[in-house]
Amino acid sequence: MSRFDLDALTWDEKPRRVELAKTVVKNIVPYINNTQKILEFGCGTGLVGLNIAPFVNELIGIDTSKEMVKKFNEKANKLNLNAKAYQKDTFEIDEKFDVVVSSMTLHHIKDINKLSKKLYEITDICFLADLEKEDGSFHTRGNGDVYHFGFSLEELEEYFNDWEIEYKTIHKIKKHKDFPVFLAILRKN
Ligand SMILES: C[S@@+](CC[C@H](N)C(=O)[O-])C[C@H]1O[C@@H](n2cnc3c(N)ncnc32)[C@H](O)[C@@H]1O
Repeated sequence: MSRFDLDALTWDEKPRRVELAKTVVKNIVPYINNTQKILEFGCGTGLVGLNIAPFVNELIGIDTSKEMVKKFNEKANKLNLNAKAYQKDTFEIDEKFDVVVSSMTLHHIKDINKLSKKLYEITDICFLADLEKEDGSFHTRGNGDVYHFGFSLEELEEYFNDWEIEYKTIHKIKKHKDFPVFLAILRKN
């Protein structure tokens, strides 16, 4: 059982996660419409995806954690949304999507060059929210599954060099200090 399987049970209880997800959704909604099929990778319990689902034709979530996927689908069914999650790694996706979104998952993915290529194969536009460069103190329970201490625009430009990037700070997560969160909008060059 992964750390995220255990976290899934109480994931939605942290107000700071709900707040961040609301801000991410608010910043993505102006760009999407009800004809689109959207993929969210690292969907977790659906804090972002299930709030985007009402604005689009179909929302598919994927996550490597079985328990996160279970929570997502329980909530989607209760809300009667056209949204479904699957237990899958992002690198297993071959289907094409109108838009790909993700929040707070990038720093858990080791090979961002490989991710950049995968996303290029499956979509034309991505919305990626994650921590800006941090000092390694964000994950107070340890950095076991953390491969990146946030991302600067310069780093993203190197990883996503086939994409045009718009990068803006949209939020600050308040913990022992403030951790700024960016939204990067990636469009194919
Ligand atoms: C910090 S959580 C964020 C969850 C959700 N996006 C949110 O904002 O509440 C990161 C999620 O990414 C998932 N994850 C990590 N690596 C993944 C991968 N390679 N493919 C798909 N999901 C992954 C984890 O299981 C976890 O649910």
